[in-house]
Amino acid sequence: MPPRAKIIGIGASLPSNIVHNTQLDPALETSHEWIMERTGIEQRHIASEGEFTSHLAIAAGREAIASAGVEASSVDLIIVATTTPDDTMPATATKVQHALGTSGAAFDMNAACSGFVFAMTTANSFILSGAAKRVLVIGAETYSRIMDWSDRSTCVLFGDGAGAVLLEAAEGERGILSAQIFTDGQHAPQLNTSGGVSSTKTAGFLTMAGKEVFRHAVSKMPEAVEKTLASAGLTVADVDWLVPHQANQRILAGVGHRLGIDAAKVISTVAKHANTSAASIPLALYEGVHDGRIKKGDIIACPALGAGFTWGCVVIKW
Ligand code: ACO
Repeated sequence: MPPRAKIIGIGASLPSNIVHNTQLDPALETSHEWIMERTGIEQRHIASEGEFTSHLAIAAGREAIASAGVEASSVDLIIVATTTPDDTMPATATKVQHALGTSGAAFDMNAACSGFVFAMTTANSFILSGAAKRVLVIGAETYSRIMDWSDRSTCVLFGDGAGAVLLEAAEGERGILSAQIFTDGQHAPQLNTSGGVSSTKTAGFLTMAGKEVFRHAVSKMPEAVEKTLASAGLTVADVDWLVPHQANQRILAGVGHRLGIDAAKVISTVAKHANTSAASIPLALYEGVHDGRIKKGDIIACPALGAGFTWGCVVIKW
C-alpha cells in the first residue's frame, strides 16, 4: 500500500494583542451588536508593530515539530500558505526554514483563504509521490496589514495568526484520505486587493463584494466536501468534524446546514480569531485537538473558499 500523509504534530501562534469589537475605532460607526449578529466575531488578534507573518509562522511551525517529537532537520519540505508575506521576496518560508533548521526545500503558496487546503493538497502529492517524507504545512497571515482601517465593511472581519501541521509519510489508515482544489478566476473582482507589486507597487487594501462572496462560499464549500468525501469512498454521514475555513459564523452555519451536518459537529473559532485566512483551518484544528473534541481516528472535512475564487477540501482521518 502507498504511504499516507499522516498528521504527527500541530502548532499555533496568535499575536498577544487582542482587539475586542468594543475597542474598535469609534470613527468606524460600527457596534459589537452589528458585528456579532452578521458574523459571530467578538474579537481578533492583531500583530503589533514589528511582529510579522514569519514570526507567527515560525512559532506555530516550531510547536508542530516539537509536538511530533522529531528533529527539525528531518523535515524535508516547508510550505507556507500566505497572502501576507513579510516581503515580496524571498518567500516567507525561507525565513521559517532558516529559523527552524529544516532541510530540503521551502516555498510560499498564495491561494488566499483556501491557502491551507491548497498547501495540504500539494504536501499530500509530495508525500504520495515519494518526493518528501516530512512536510511542515503552515498557514500564516497578518491581514491587519492589508486592511483599510477606515472601511468598516471589511476591517472588522479579519485577524492575524498562524497554524501548522507536520505531515509524515506513514503506512496505515490515518492521514489525508483525499484532497481536491479548484479555481475560477472570473470571480477575481469580487474579492481582491486594490493593488499589488506589479500593478501599483503597493500591496493595496482588501476589497470585497460581501454578498457575492457569501453566496459562493455556501455553495462551493459543501460541493467540495461532497466531491472530496466521494473520492475517499465516504459520505457526509461519516464525518465526525467539519472544520471549515473560518470566514464568519453565518457562512459556517450555512455550509453545515447545506450538508446536513449537526451544528455541534462544526468547529468554530470565529468568535475569538475572526477570519485569519490561510491560518484559520489549522488554528481551528488546533483548538479541536487541544480541547479534546478531535480524537484519533475521527474523520474531519476541511473545506475553504478564498479570493480567485479558489476553493477545495481536504478530508483527514486523524
Ligand atoms: N458596522 C455597521 N454597519 C455596517 C458594517 C459594520 N461593520 N459594515 C457594513 N455596514 C452597513 C452597510 O454600510 C450597509 O448600510 P446601508 O444599508 O445603510 O447601506 C448595511 O450595513 C448592510 O450592509 P451589507 O454589506 O448589505 O451587509 P450584509 O448583511 O451583507 O453583511 C457581511 C456584510 C457581514 C460582510 C456579509 O456580506 C458577509 O458575511 N459576507 C461574506 C464575506 C466574508 O465573510 N468574507 C470573508 C473573506 S472571504 C472568505 O473568507 C470566504
